[in-house]
Amino acid sequence: MKPGDSQSVENLFNDLAPSYDLFNDLLSFGLHRVWKRQLLTWMQPIAGENWLDVCCGTGDLALSLARFVRPGGTVLGIDSAAKTLEIAKKRAKKKPWLPLSWMQGDALDTGLPDNHFDGAVMAFGLRNIVNPIDGLKELHRILKPDARAGILDFNPLIKNSLQGRFQTFYLRQVVVPLAAQAGFRDHYSYLEESLRVFPQGSTQESLALEAGFKKACHRTLAAGQMGALLIHN
Ligand SMILES: C[S@@+](CC[C@H](N)C(=O)[O-])C[C@H]1O[C@@H](n2cnc3c(N)ncnc32)[C@H](O)[C@@H]1O
Repeated sequence: MKPGDSQSVENLFNDLAPSYDLFNDLLSFGLHRVWKRQLLTWMQPIAGENWLDVCCGTGDLALSLARFVRPGGTVLGIDSAAKTLEIAKKRAKKKPWLPLSWMQGDALDTGLPDNHFDGAVMAFGLRNIVNPIDGLKELHRILKPDARAGILDFNPLIKNSLQGRFQTFYLRQVVVPLAAQAGFRDHYSYLEESLRVFPQGSTQESLALEAGFKKACHRTLAAGQMGALLIHN
């Protein structure tokens, strides 16, 4: 599977949906939760605000985020894959006090109103979107003039740097073989492919400014293996 084909990406995540959370925990040693918590610390969502979790998958980040915006706020999770959303809805049903809603849709064309949300998060989504600049432009359109957004993903590293070699080793020798045991070799081989075409942190900052955001700053986590693009309208 090649990055840039939205139907294949949707099929891939529909296939993976039932195992996605387990794999996330196994393959990151549970650390994805720490990175997501750090993103929320940087974002500082507060009570009464309306937030978006774009490419929400099974709703991990939306569920955490929803605790911060109570009372009076809301979180809308949006994803193109119906099966991941089914799981997100089931998880949310167990916490009916959280102000969550879900929508199947395309991050490139959400159909949501202009200048509507106080903030947005996206975890491991931008890399899967056909054209990241268009995803950032759509985000800019639906966020209020003083809103902020945080985008967490792998940090694309220079291949022959020490960190880059570790990333390649980890993806090829740990992630893919483990995923292959469960029949998901191709699904996780796609991860390295998608990372190969994902812009570096400094380019992500430029793309965010080009999309219309006033400020953009890319920070690294996990000893440089992960990155977060922090942007302000
Ligand atoms: C790697 S998962 C991340 C899920 C979740 N954010 C997390 O961190 O656990 C990427 C998600 O992006 C979704 N996605 C990919 N392209 C999308 C698009 N154009 N519009 C909406 N969702 C998309 C996929 O369906 C998938 O659920």
